[in-house]
Formats: sequence, structure tokens, C-alpha cells
Amino acid sequence: MSRSYKIALIPGDGTGPEVVSEGVKVINKASERFGFKLEYNEFDFGGDRYIKTGEILPEGAIDELKKYDSIFLGAIGHPDVKPGILEKGILLRLRFELDQYINLRPVKLYPGVECPLKDKTPEDIDFVVVRENTEGLYAGAGGFLKKGTPDEVAVQESINTRKGVERCIRYAFEYCKKRKKELKLTLCGKTNVLTYAFDLWERTFYEVAKEYPEIKVDYAHVDAITMWFVKNPEWFDVIVTDNMFGDIITDIGAMIQGGMGIAAGGNINPEGVSMFEPIGGSAPKYTGQNIINPLAAICAGGMMLEHLGETEAGKKVEQAVMEVTGKHIKSLQAGKMGLSTSEAGDLVADLVSRI
Ligand code: IPM
Ligand code: MN
Repeated sequence: MSRSYKIALIPGDGTGPEVVSEGVKVINKASERFGFKLEYNEFDFGGDRYIKTGEILPEGAIDELKKYDSIFLGAIGHPDVKPGILEKGILLRLRFELDQYINLRPVKLYPGVECPLKDKTPEDIDFVVVRENTEGLYAGAGGFLKKGTPDEVAVQESINTRKGVERCIRYAFEYCKKRKKELKLTLCGKTNVLTYAFDLWERTFYEVAKEYPEIKVDYAHVDAITMWFVKNPEWFDVIVTDNMFGDIITDIGAMIQGGMGIAAGGNINPEGVSMFEPIGGSAPKYTGQNIINPLAAICAGGMMLEHLGETEAGKKVEQAVMEVTGKHIKSLQAGKMGLSTSEAGDLVADLVSRI
């Protein structure tokens, strides 16, 4: 029987639908070329639905999504909805309830892409951040005391469980081993100040490291790593870190690889349903103009194919994107590509079927 995958599409808000449709165009071409089938079902979760119905995620949505092989998400965030409602109610809820405990974010400078770092080339910028995706400061633990009074107290706690930390660290070691680049894994933390949370991370890291003698281990404080991303990005192969630090350092990562127009990520549950997304936001001001850069979403589609086991197809998508950045696109910025959104998608799709 031929290989076939059921994909849940959540185009979401703003430019999300435009970029997801280019992503679908490209992965469909890959499926034709590599002989597998993709079946889609679309879900209208996002700001418009919330404004119309008052419902963020319908009853049963999570159980329904569990029936799919993967989820392809565009963007969540609407200018007319208070910040936080959709992000927490959709994106974070899906990550948590589907137990997508890894946020995998490759940072790779593609050929032809303008890098803000002087003298750095694609050889220097090629690493992957493994961000813990279900715990830490994102867990939602804490609360207010005496809210709204002069004596108000707000507490936001970072939750780090041995189980959660260990499974993330193990994933990072395995990923580093499979990636076979430098075989080097760096723990990013703040052991000099956060002496409970990162004590647990550090102990777990060095314990698990004993099972991987072939992997060189290293440690960097989060503040220092932001400096080194700018000064010596070539030092890194795979980095593992907690949820909040991972959120912050991957935005710097996105910038040194050329911007949000190219940065993709995967929310991964190695035992369940994973979700792939461009990591930039919904870019409301560019909505509907056919000028947003779809490459990040296309790269997310490629990551999804690799995750589904269609490794060759995923690699081909990446190769096609590299060809486009190297030869056909002027800039990664919306409106400055020298191509429309759909033309950029057409170009990658065509390359996927013939290079
Ligand atoms: C990201 C985003 C999200 C996060 C927001 C939108 C909740 O910044 O995917 O990095 O903080 O994880
Ligand atoms: Mn972020």
C-alpha cells in the first residue's frame, strides 16, 4: 500500500492562510515526485472565528486533532483580539495538550540571504535549538495577591519536572547524534542565578551525557549565548534549553539567519501528533496583499515531511528553497522579494519537481 498522511491545516490569522497555501502547494509537488499521498482537512481556529462565535477552541478539537498524522499551522494572533487570548488559547493549548514537548528550531543561513552579521557565511550559521515546550515559565503557575491595590503581588513560577527536563535533554542528545554535524550539544541555562531550576537541568544533562560518550557537551549561560550568537555562531551545533530561554534565543537565531521570513519550527511530540509552523507572527499589515514571504512556511512543510519519515522529500524542499534564496529572490522581506507570495511558492514547487 502506498504511503498516505492525514494533515490538519490550521491556517489561522493574518497572513497565515496565504503562507500555508504556498506550503501546501510545495509539499503536494513533493508528494507527487516521491510517491506518497497527503490528505488535508482545514480547521478555522483563529481570531476571526473567536470574534464571530466567542469560542477559542471548540469542544473536542484536541481529540479531533489527535486523529491526524501531523498539523500544519500558519499563524495565530489578531489585531482586534487582546494579546494573549489566542496565543494561550490556541497555540499554547495545542502545544500543551498534544504534549508537544519539543520545539525544534533550526537556525540556518541559506545561500544568498543577507545576514546582519559582518563576514558570516552559510558555513558559519547552521545550528539547531531544542527548546523545551511544555513547562518552565510557560506552565502558567502563579497568581496575583491583592490585585489592583498598591500592595499587589504577582508571582509567575517556572515549573521544571525531572521527567520533563530529562525527556527534552534525551531528545536533544538523540537529535545531535542523528544530525552528525559536530556531535556537540550545548546546554543553555542560568546556573549562576536560577540555582534550583538549572541545577536540575545541569544534573540531568551531565547524567544523560554519560550515555552518549561520542557527543561533546558544553554549557553556556543564556546571556552569554545571545552574545555568542552574534559573535561566534559557528561554535554551535545543537543547543538545548528551557521554554523561556528557547523562546528568546530563537528570535535572535531567526534574525541571524535572515529574519522571520525564513525561520521555521516544529512542535514535536515524538510519540504523538506534532505541529509545524513558520515562527513569525500573523503580520496583519501585509494580509491579503500577496507580498508576504512564504519561505518560512514552506520550510516548515519540509520539516513536517521529514518528521513523517519522508526524508528525501523534506530534503528536496530545503534544496529548492536554497536554490530560490541563492538565485531568485532579492530580499526575504515582505514586498521586497521581487516576487509575489504565490510566485515564490510556484517557483519552489516547480524546483521541487525537477531538481
Ligand atoms: C513562539 C511565539 C509564542 C511563544 C507566543 C506567540 C505564545 O513567540 O512560538 O516563539 O512564546 O512560544
Ligand atoms: Mn517566540
